[in-house]
Amino acid sequence: MAKLIKNGTIVTSSDQYQGDILIEDGIITGIGLHLSQEGAEIVDATGKYVFPGGIDPHTHLDMPFGGTVTADDFETGTMAAAFGGTTTVIDFCLTNKGKPLSQSVQTWHQKAKGKAVIDYSFHLMIAEINDEVLAELPSMIHDEGITSLKVFMAYKNVFQADDGTLYRTLLEAKKHGALVMVHAENGDVIEYLIKEALEAGQTDPIYHALTRPSLIEGEATGRAAKLTDLANSQLYVVHVTCEEAVQQITEARNRGVDIWGETCPQYLMLDQSYLEKPDFEGAKYVWSPPLRPKFHQDVLWNALKTGQLQTVGSDQCSFNFNGQKDLGLGDFSKIPNGGPCIEDRFSILFSEGVGKGRITLNQFVDIVSTRSAKLFGLFPKKGSIAVGGDADIVIFDPNAKRTISAETHHMNVDYNPFEGIEITGEPVTVLSRGEFVIRDKQFVGEAGNGQFIKRGTYVSFSSEVNVGKKETVQGGAPHV
Ligand code: URP
Ligand code: ZN
Ligand code: ZN
Ligand code: ZN
Repeated sequence: MAKLIKNGTIVTSSDQYQGDILIEDGIITGIGLHLSQEGAEIVDATGKYVFPGGIDPHTHLDMPFGGTVTADDFETGTMAAAFGGTTTVIDFCLTNKGKPLSQSVQTWHQKAKGKAVIDYSFHLMIAEINDEVLAELPSMIHDEGITSLKVFMAYKNVFQADDGTLYRTLLEAKKHGALVMVHAENGDVIEYLIKEALEAGQTDPIYHALTRPSLIEGEATGRAAKLTDLANSQLYVVHVTCEEAVQQITEARNRGVDIWGETCPQYLMLDQSYLEKPDFEGAKYVWSPPLRPKFHQDVLWNALKTGQLQTVGSDQCSFNFNGQKDLGLGDFSKIPNGGPCIEDRFSILFSEGVGKGRITLNQFVDIVSTRSAKLFGLFPKKGSIAVGGDADIVIFDPNAKRTISAETHHMNVDYNPFEGIEITGEPVTVLSRGEFVIRDKQFVGEAGNGQFIKRGTYVSFSSEVNVGKKETVQGGAPHV
């Protein structure tokens, strides 16, 4: 049945206006004043903002890591995402050296299929470049629509790839129209610092932060930026935490390098002192890169405001405090890295960003949705409210107040790192391709309704609009 969203304030990354939205067969077919359609179901949005659904460009669902598996899978994770106003997630597909890429992609499809309640896509991890990988990459990008490749510069002996692999990935990405993503930390130096700390008996969670200094996040970010420049390629730096990394990104952008940066709510809201909480509670706040001293938060907010960082991902990677985080009791290096944020990303950015005057309403939409749609080949089907686009829509009450708590969240994990923080603004109703997933704050979706989205190839920031190319589903750069 057609739906008509009436009387809302429609907000995109560029506009804000009163209007009605007509939805037919999952697509937005009309936007205007005083629209009417016989037989359409009316959805009243009076007094509410109507946003494009959030796009979370950075999740780890059902992922084995640190000797365990994340607490949230594609069902609980995407349900929580929907409660929070996110209608698309892009998850990291891990790969194994010596194994076909296609096998890993199949594994990730099995994890998601029949479970996701909203749409999803995958980034593909590149651990090595050899003849087999080179032979498979074009079909991963052009046929599977997996148009972003992830290289880890840290997690030595687990995920870490060397600089040669990063450089060759950048070259291949440029050739085939993919965006390279990096986790930028110096894994070799970190391995040494961890060994030194443990030998000195420094085993508490705070040493996780102290063995991963911001200086070497900056160093790795600068190295990746320079290799991108050398390869004349394109780079997206995930989970930027610190001034040193922002400086490297800014400097490279000023030189014309095609480089983008993401940060996460935890780095905007929490600081290194959380790792010093007693009774091992600091383990709840172990992310890599780590939380930083407080002054970095202002740097990150300012970078979002000025456009030096462009997106906020959740880096959803949840582990229970009891039974998972405690694997690192007596040895901080064994604490599974990561935390839950998929549900609160959107509202935290609204409340702390727009609500506190740090970013504008249009910037908010760009940061939580539109920019990721453009960078990752989902635009214009997703990431905006436009005729012809998917009806992925959030009806948002800007005045609702809520206190974040594990008692009330929908993630499958026993703590919330933002526990007790009061925020203003909350999604009330969320539609995915025109179907209600959340209605009046109740889950009404269904596991398996989320679809895998083949994404378009990368379009550089010199040509923003990703239209008219036939090669992959959403369009993009020409095939090489
Ligand atoms: O600590 C983190 N960030 N865990 C997830 C894996 C990653 O590095 O993104
Ligand atoms: Zn190609
Ligand atoms: Zn990472
Ligand atoms: Zn991550």
